Amino acid sequence: MTIFEGKGLTVRYGAIAALTDVDIALEPGVVHGVIGPNGAGKSTFIDALSGRRRPSSGTVSLDGDDITRRSARWRRGNGVARSFQRTSVFGSMTVRTQLEMVARKNDEPDLDEIVATLGLDEVADQVCSEIAYGTQRSVDLAIALIGRPRVVLLDEPCAGLVADESVKMLEHVRALCTERDVAAMLVEHDVEGVFRTCDVITVLDLGKVIASGTPAEVRTNPDVVRAYLGSAA
Ligand SMILES: Nc1ncnc2c1ncn2[C@@H]1O[C@H](COP(=O)(O)OP(=O)(O)O)[C@@H](O)[C@H]1O
Ligand SMILES: [Mg+2]
Repeated sequence: MTIFEGKGLTVRYGAIAALTDVDIALEPGVVHGVIGPNGAGKSTFIDALSGRRRPSSGTVSLDGDDITRRSARWRRGNGVARSFQRTSVFGSMTVRTQLEMVARKNDEPDLDEIVATLGLDEVADQVCSEIAYGTQRSVDLAIALIGRPRVVLLDEPCAGLVADESVKMLEHVRALCTERDVAAMLVEHDVEGVFRTCDVITVLDLGKVIASGTPAEVRTNPDVVRAYLGSAA
């Protein structure tokens, strides 16, 4: 059952259309991957869905209600969370202070559960700017999951991670979405990771959807192979 939907979304930056007539439908417990080359419009897509950028046409809906004109803050307060491509942890605070601040704002009763699942116990008392980059990305994921959002939009959680950190990150995303029945959109550069982790995949190229389906369907789609995967597929 779809709980969150983007329909016909078009976003322009001046004369450039970064996103043209793009659809996505997210369901609880389902991880929906979005892949595409650099500049394909993936971050713009998340910005339009999260309320950071108003689309020039198209709609965003939550439980069937049109929320296209709702602010990013309203969406966060109503169960639609996101993470950013660049880490957004607040440097001078300890991990615990940072997470507790977000938890207070978003009524999270089970912060300890998130911290434990992501293995952040060990670094809880360290200052955010002093922990390893890979751990900062885990803090970003924790922040997105605080407050039991029903929808999470993740923009390249594995950006800058080394291979085994990426594997672990995607396992955490998978486990937390399944356990918490979250409807997730996972934008990721690591194509193999997306094929391994996601139930459904949408492929963007030059701001348009060129394929959408199960990992098996997408992997063998001739347009995808031509435009994106090339000989790696
Ligand atoms: N703030 C902006 N102003 C102008 N053009 C932008 C802006 N952000 C992104 N773009 C352009 O929009 C296109 C899509 O960018 P983006 O959504 O960041 O792609 P991706 O996340 O897939 O790499 C690119 O051509 C990019 O240069
Ligand atoms: Mg991006």
